[in-house]
Amino acid sequence: MFSFSSFLATLFFLEFLTAALGHFQLPIQHVLELGLPPLTLRSQATGFNFDLEKALPPASSTRTPLRSVLSTDGSCATFHGPGKECTANMEVVSLLFEDCGSQFRVCRCSDANMTLDTAVDRLARVPIGLRRFIGDVMVLGGVTHAYTDLASGDIHFFGDAQMDTWIHEASHAFDFALPKSPHSSSVPWNTALSRDSCATDDYALSNRVEAFAQASVMNIYILLHSGHTPPGFQSSCMSNQLAFLNELQLYNVTRLFGNTCAINDLLHARRVQGPAVLDATRTFQTVPLDPPLRTSAALANPLFNFRYGKSIWKWSGVMLSSFMFTAVCIL
Ligand SMILES: *[C@@H]1O[C@H](CO)[C@@H](O)[C@H](O)[C@H]1NC(C)=O
Ligand SMILES: *[C@@H]1O[C@H](CO)[C@@H](O)[C@H](O)[C@H]1NC(C)=O
Ligand SMILES: [Zn+2]
Repeated sequence: MFSFSSFLATLFFLEFLTAALGHFQLPIQHVLELGLPPLTLRSQATGFNFDLEKALPPASSTRTPLRSVLSTDGSCATFHGPGKECTANMEVVSLLFEDCGSQFRVCRCSDANMTLDTAVDRLARVPIGLRRFIGDVMVLGGVTHAYTDLASGDIHFFGDAQMDTWIHEASHAFDFALPKSPHSSSVPWNTALSRDSCATDDYALSNRVEAFAQASVMNIYILLHSGHTPPGFQSSCMSNQLAFLNELQLYNVTRLFGNTCAINDLLHARRVQGPAVLDATRTFQTVPLDPPLRTSAALANPLFNFRYGKSIWKWSGVMLSSFMFTAVCIL
């Protein structure tokens, strides 16, 4: 018997984002194979050049090491062992964030680039309204990239995945929370794409699913920056995409940047139990605007983290699941 969820479980986005070398962000491959057509919109930029890390306050957390999880639980164990994503030791911790009563789990391979502290800090900065859709988090070594298992919401981060990548992957987990009807397959999203003249960046042009995740990252930036786009980007050419997102309950700033994962919005979040104590100070705050781009000066400045990305190669291993995806995505 061929069940819907079993073939969704084989479906991944594999994405190479950026790698940091000294002060520079060097060009790294984006990898994606989903069997969906690329978009024909104009791209606003080769990649994202903004830093969301400082703009997002982290939720504090307590950690409980889980030593027995590898033998009893599949999600991390599946990727641990000879020939798997993690061939070294795997450390597993359960996390209780101050804004959620449901536990999260991070599995970190001992050869991962991100320390456990870094990974926990970045997860803690994913706004609670979005974080509650994430399954387990796997932190691994290698070239910087990430992918999300759309059925489980599990996210695998390799290398040194930056904050925009964490938000991007979490947005996939949100998009596919109801796997049979992802937001990115909806008629209104595709109508919005057809009415707009641009997408966020080159990576968004991969297909409507990536356009959704990148627009989600952009929208979260805009919400935090009092309605301003990141320097160098415009909202007017993608106003229909942004309007679509802002109609979704997820982007209600009170909840998205609030203090609890107990949000009764029928969006099928994975973590829905509120924390024992609500921190009344964890409320939505906008942050100061980033300085405008000074293109040539900015590019010459090694402290200016400009990111590039371009599609270089495809990962053929997911061809079959790509076909399945198109079979189930009814527009
Ligand atoms: C990750 O660690 C490996 C091994 O130490 C190193 O070669 C690589 O450059 C690191 N990658 C990043 C993105 O830091
Ligand atoms: C946003 O969420 C808050 C808190 O749940 C709620 O009071 C408010 O009505 C919501 N706003 C909209 C536009 O739904
Ligand atoms: Zn993606």
